[in-house]
Amino acid sequence: MTALLEVEGLHKAFRGVRAVDGASLAVRAGSITGLIGPNGSGKSTTIDCISGFQSSDAGTIRFDGQDLRGLPPQAIARRGLTRTFQDVRVYDGYSLLDNLLVVDKPFQGLGWSGALFRSRAWRERRGRAEARARELIELVGLTRLIDAPAVVLSYGQKKLLAFAAAMMSEPKLVVLDEPVAGVNPTRINEVAEILRRANRGGTAFLIVEHNVDFISALCDHVIVYDRGRKLTEGPPAAVHRDHRVLEAYLGVAPAEPVS
Ligand SMILES: Nc1ncnc2c1ncn2[C@@H]1O[C@H](COP(=O)(O)OP(=O)(O)OP(=O)(O)O)[C@@H](O)[C@H]1O
Ligand SMILES: [Mg+2]
Repeated sequence: MTALLEVEGLHKAFRGVRAVDGASLAVRAGSITGLIGPNGSGKSTTIDCISGFQSSDAGTIRFDGQDLRGLPPQAIARRGLTRTFQDVRVYDGYSLLDNLLVVDKPFQGLGWSGALFRSRAWRERRGRAEARARELIELVGLTRLIDAPAVVLSYGQKKLLAFAAAMMSEPKLVVLDEPVAGVNPTRINEVAEILRRANRGGTAFLIVEHNVDFISALCDHVIVYDRGRKLTEGPPAAVHRDHRVLEAYLGVAPAEPVS
């Protein structure tokens, strides 16, 4: 089966620091793929390059049969790939509903005059966007707060709102950077269930996380990063057993078990 996203030989350096150093990875359509690895191993930088928030130095990024390299984030989102950020980003002063409606703006393609004169096409598009926004806010369990400014949300709730915003354009693939870091452990299962439900609707996910239990429960495939590139990959159980993964995390070879 061909991959939805295929990254090969990706490189990105910051003033001599090789953040991404020849990484290759693939995400199948409809899958939930995990990306784990020690701090500083280049996971977020890889996402930044894929989603157009950083320019890569070398490599290829193919998504749904198209070359993404050099495209700005909005053009990539229009092709069906969106993302969330490790440092959760929402518009604090906007209501939850407006946080989602603002995402739809660049997709309207109706120009300022359409909006100014409230043309029929504009009103229809806006109606559809609002219906989708309400559905997504319901999906993440925030309907009670739909008209409140996002500033009132807890950290975990902001992550859910950012997730809903990433889903607004009905993307084929959403890349999530640490969706449950800092989220109350009792709510982590709820987040997993929300992602499963969205996945059943056809959206694929690439999830960067340090919470290995969350990744194991959710993902059908896990990619392990170390020092800017893929160390290994496979089903969660196989990755768990791989001694190189433990070595990468601990920085040393684990002691041999005493028999
Ligand atoms: N904008 C930047 N300028 C300079 N160095 C950067 C920049 N972004 C990342 N780096 C460096 O690149 C390396 C990879 O960082 P990155 O954030 O991609 O790692 P990560 O795997 O996401 O780590 P974490 O699990 O801690 O989030 C690190 O050494 C980091 O300091
Ligand atoms: Mg990171």
